[in-house]
Amino acid sequence: MIKGKHIVVGVTGGIAAYKAAMLVSLLKKKGADVHVCMTKNACQFISPLTFETLSSNRVVTDTFSREAPYEVDHVSLAKLADLVVVAPATANILGKTANGIADDFLSTLLLAARSKVLFAPAMNTAMLHHAAVQRNIEQLRNDGCLFVAPGSGMLACGDIGDGRMAEPAEICDAIEDVLTEKDLADVRIMVTAGPTKERIDDVRYLTNRSTGKMGYAIAEQAARRGAKVTLISGTSALPVPGGVEVRYIESAQQMYEVCTEVFPQTDIAIKAAAVADYTPAVYQPGKMKKGEDMQLQLVRTQDILQELGRQKQHQVLVGFAAEAADLEKNAVGKLQRKNLDMIAANDISRTDIGFGSNENLVTLFFADGSKKVLDKADKHLIANGILDEAAAIYRMKK
Ligand SMILES: Cc1cc2nc3c(=O)[nH]c(=O)nc-3n(C[C@H](O)[C@H](O)[C@H](O)COP(=O)(O)O)c2cc1C
Repeated sequence: MIKGKHIVVGVTGGIAAYKAAMLVSLLKKKGADVHVCMTKNACQFISPLTFETLSSNRVVTDTFSREAPYEVDHVSLAKLADLVVVAPATANILGKTANGIADDFLSTLLLAARSKVLFAPAMNTAMLHHAAVQRNIEQLRNDGCLFVAPGSGMLACGDIGDGRMAEPAEICDAIEDVLTEKDLADVRIMVTAGPTKERIDDVRYLTNRSTGKMGYAIAEQAARRGAKVTLISGTSALPVPGGVEVRYIESAQQMYEVCTEVFPQTDIAIKAAAVADYTPAVYQPGKMKKGEDMQLQLVRTQDILQELGRQKQHQVLVGFAAEAADLEKNAVGKLQRKNLDMIAANDISRTDIGFGSNENLVTLFFADGSKKVLDKADKHLIANGILDEAAAIYRMKK
């Protein structure tokens, strides 16, 4: 979790320095306390004022300044840091750190750091592939430093090749990974997400408004916390979170088949998908021709949650209830009927949360009759709240 963490961002003299501004902004939005240190050369590329404004903290550019904002200096900032991130990291800073050279504020702080250090290198392709730079990267890895690998593409110098600094969002993800405790390392989690599609013919289908955001957020956070995650997903435009195994399905029947296959090797199953309750009685191959008014006959799909509740042994089974009215009564009824350990209920009559939104507000109801409200927040925070409770039940059952 980034929220409340003290993160030192070191900015060095590369053209990608401007992207560090976006990184600082992302970290601040996630609730971090960000302190920026710039090398003298970095100040040629971007003004300290930009970082000062974005971070709401004084920016350090010089070891020997009489106006240094920290009580002591590099040592107190190094002590404060939960993580030091160098983005962009020039060939120069990599070489200096790998060889223990401390000739300015940032390089001195890097030697004094007790926290983990994450480098996001950025440089011309020939520089990156130079034997000395590769040797320094190897040395830093052996010393325990972490890296967000540069990508490939058009570089500022006009060359096309490796050396482009990773995008700020990718660096932010890596920071989140480093700062997240791996408390679910021994747990196998199955998450379902997204809508199902029930085919009418080869061009038409019945579906619903689910985008998969809630389920994907749960899968992402579970993987980040070290769980072995299988995500069973309906069609979704969302990227598959790192470290997550994904199984795509289309129909409720396919969802049923994959869920019942994966469930026996699962410790916690969280069913956030919006699965169709009905499917066309007849599927028409090809494309139905337009004609008179028609009626579409629908038949019930298999109730996956009910079936998993019936098969449940050691597993913790978590359902979702999207309700437009009588939230508590309907959610608790579903929890009991389907033999769930917990149900996360959300009110779909509200337009500011739920379907398609980045935020959610859920009430968790438990098999022991208790309940807990997870206040309106980003779906990733809600995901962590759900995982905390599910993991607590799992450890109690074990
Ligand atoms: C326009 C320009 C762009 C540069 N871009 C990079 C770069 O992307 N990566 C890099 O390692 N060096 C780059 N350099 C060279 C560094 O600025 C130089 O090695 C400097 O000594 C780095 O100092 P620092 O690591 O203390 O910031 C660039 C230099 C100039 C003039």
